[in-house]
Amino acid sequence: MEQQEPNANLFDSIAKSKCLLGIALDDGDGDGQPSTSPPSTAERFFNKVWQKQPALFAADIPLRKFQLAMDWDDVADLIHHSHEDTASPPLFFQEGRPIADPEAAYGCSPFAAYLDGCSVIVNHADHHHSKIAGLCDELQLTFPHVYANSYLTPPRSSAVKSHSDDRDVLVIQVLGRKNWKVYKTVPVSFPFANEQVGKEGRPPVSREVLDGGICFDGKVSLEPGHVLYMPRGFVHEASTDSDEPSFHITIAIATHDWCMSTVMTEMVRERLNECIEYRIPLSIGAGAYQGGMIDKDLESSIGNQLAGAKDVLLGITASDLERALRNKYQLHNSVANAHRCKLDSRKRKAAGDGEVVGPSAASTLSLDSSLRRSTDEERTSVQLQEGRLRGLTVREETMRSLMSVLSRMKSEDLPRSTVRNLRNFYEIDPADQQDLVCEFTLLCFARCCVELGGLAVVHMNE
Ligand SMILES: [Fe+2]
Repeated sequence: MEQQEPNANLFDSIAKSKCLLGIALDDGDGDGQPSTSPPSTAERFFNKVWQKQPALFAADIPLRKFQLAMDWDDVADLIHHSHEDTASPPLFFQEGRPIADPEAAYGCSPFAAYLDGCSVIVNHADHHHSKIAGLCDELQLTFPHVYANSYLTPPRSSAVKSHSDDRDVLVIQVLGRKNWKVYKTVPVSFPFANEQVGKEGRPPVSREVLDGGICFDGKVSLEPGHVLYMPRGFVHEASTDSDEPSFHITIAIATHDWCMSTVMTEMVRERLNECIEYRIPLSIGAGAYQGGMIDKDLESSIGNQLAGAKDVLLGITASDLERALRNKYQLHNSVANAHRCKLDSRKRKAAGDGEVVGPSAASTLSLDSSLRRSTDEERTSVQLQEGRLRGLTVREETMRSLMSVLSRMKSEDLPRSTVRNLRNFYEIDPADQQDLVCEFTLLCFARCCVELGGLAVVHMNE
């Protein structure tokens, strides 16, 4: 078995790991001949795979360590912290469509949205959880800047419909399983944001793409530790089909923002804006247009300005662009660092001497927290704040089991239970194929019930 260097670069370890689908990275250097002096594994990735085709890797030890370190309690903390951040709250999708009014539907609670069968998407998840921040920091040893979005999808569901993105991505499967379909036909090569397809407000994925075949000859099932690299512009869709939810992190590499077209355009604009004469409108004086013909004086005036603008363009050097690109990376990194370095102070509070019902008590819950039924006094003490959770709607496939948990917890003389063991409070009929209650469902249910006052947290000294 190959030994892993203790301080191996994380991306290098991904590139070095077994390539399950796509190009095998140990096939020489791509010219059909075995390579006499193979370049480093990351170099081989960039030569053969990067921006060319999708590839699926089985993660090596360092990534597996990260994956093993993140559990469903971490996912609950992540979506809770994102929910507290009014600047970038989580997004809810049901059957591929965004929930238009999350406050009216779920009091903006990601736990209530999940119980109703919604996928929960956290953009810039690296701003909300220290483990994901650490993952991005490590990948920035290879890429100049990355950020992470996270996708939590309930069993037998999908977050978004088939679409393309304007960036390269590394999809890291952390918990559960998810099936991916990547289409061979790329509708727009290296698209910019306005050229993405299949997203809200963008053109749908065309029949030509859907009928053009699927990469890897079919769906691929990502398991914990798998990494799917998907180049910018490839159309893809993903769904869960098992009884378990899925949690994956998409590492975004914003290549549309780093290309010559973008960097050069920004620099030309910046240089032209430094001269007052390029800020004022082109002449549209009286008589500028006569009978549909361009006025000769106007044409000559534009020609003079264009000659000057070309001189500005020709004055831009490769080192100017290189400096602009570096400044751009540094700006993105400093903004990300400002968020990431605050995360240690945002760990989940322990269920100590504080409240036993309400939003604050709910935010302390993990799978090992203990619960009991609440008293009438505790229930009435919960103040429903503006925009907060006011009730629950749960998806049909979990309704019977969750209602059974609540009614048994509320009945007389029942023992206390940890969140994890709430599953002992209902019986699953083996013939019932519809029951989709999992540990994460129980955690969401417990958090919502404690927030609304239906159940209470048991403190250590109680
Ligand atoms: Fe995507």
